[in-house]
Amino acid sequence: MILLTGAAGFIGFHTAQALLAAGEQVIGVDNLNEYYDVTLKKARLEQLEKRDGFTFYKADIADRDAMQGIMDAHPQIDRIIHLAAQAGVRHSLTHPFDYEHSNLMGPLVLLELARHREGLKHFVYASSSSVYGGNTKQPFSIDDQVNAPVSLYAATKRAGELMTQSYSYLYNIPATGLRFFTVYGPWGRPDMAYFSFTRDILAGKPITVFNQGDMKRDFTWIDDVVSGIIAVLGHPPVAHGPHCIHDAPHRVFNLGNNRAESLLYFIETIETALGVRTEKIMAPMAPGDVPETYADIDASKEVFGYDPKTPLSEGIPQFVEWYRSFYGIEKAA
Ligand SMILES: NC(=O)c1ccc[n+]([C@@H]2O[C@H](COP(=O)([O-])OP(=O)(O)OC[C@H]3O[C@@H](n4cnc5c(N)ncnc54)[C@H](O)[C@@H]3O)[C@@H](O)[C@H]2O)c1
Repeated sequence: MILLTGAAGFIGFHTAQALLAAGEQVIGVDNLNEYYDVTLKKARLEQLEKRDGFTFYKADIADRDAMQGIMDAHPQIDRIIHLAAQAGVRHSLTHPFDYEHSNLMGPLVLLELARHREGLKHFVYASSSSVYGGNTKQPFSIDDQVNAPVSLYAATKRAGELMTQSYSYLYNIPATGLRFFTVYGPWGRPDMAYFSFTRDILAGKPITVFNQGDMKRDFTWIDDVVSGIIAVLGHPPVAHGPHCIHDAPHRVFNLGNNRAESLLYFIETIETALGVRTEKIMAPMAPGDVPETYADIDASKEVFGYDPKTPLSEGIPQFVEWYRSFYGIEKAA
């Protein structure tokens, strides 16, 4: 049985679907906060609640008593996938304490639960490509230094890795951190560019292009990411094993697509899928942003056979199709 935090979120929802399809029992937790449209989170949950094997708790991961109560109610929980977080780089400039609450206190509560759950097989948690900060060596490798975050969001995700390292070392918790690289797909996140560009282009509004379009991202299709999460779950590390950090049964992996695509190509792919061109307002680099992300995925391939397959040219049209159907937007004649 798996405790899955952030179950009403984008990646959590898809992960839950895949786990349920594989016959797992999933205990989902989410506080359904208002960072973005709650009706989308509820719509995802509605899909999950139709399925056998899914139990949901509306709870805050930073609430120790509530989380302990959930663990006590389900002594069969033997794996944890911790995806709940306050996401978003821009929001961290204006709402720093949301990150302290969900990304520092939250993981600490989860680690305490993991520490006291006898026989816990694996603690898998979400990190982020943002931990690489302004590193200029590309592609980003799990062996690179990650000591210079350029946003508070990145700093809290890195802190989550470090807290996990200490718990894994002290209490022998098999733990894996996954550094996700710009994940996109159906049921996605309205605060991310692929979503807001689609919304604005369909509304006939111009879109703002940061750093004059001179940016690159490693865009990762949601199903590829979910396959990686499910695969790694079955590969808990043992202390001193390959890629383990010092003596702890803890390692981190990149889950990217191993391609750095230009922002302008990305926009063009959305425009092509929508059949509409739009006005672009060129703007300087936004604070907290990085010019390029690009994942080295060799270790992920080697350890759990990670094999992302989906290019933007295939993924974006599928996202656009979902978007039109979810929001009831007809195709232009
Ligand atoms: N989507 C990406 O491109 C991406 C990239 C890098 C890292 N990540 C990380 O992956 C994880 C999942 O991201 P996502 O894209 O699905 O984001 P999301 O915002 O859609 O999902 C996160 C979910 O966690 C919930 N949550 C937040 N704080 C909570 C709290 N205190 N208690 C309980 N629930 C809480 C939210 O309500 C939300 O449903 C996050 O840890 C995020 O930092 C995502």
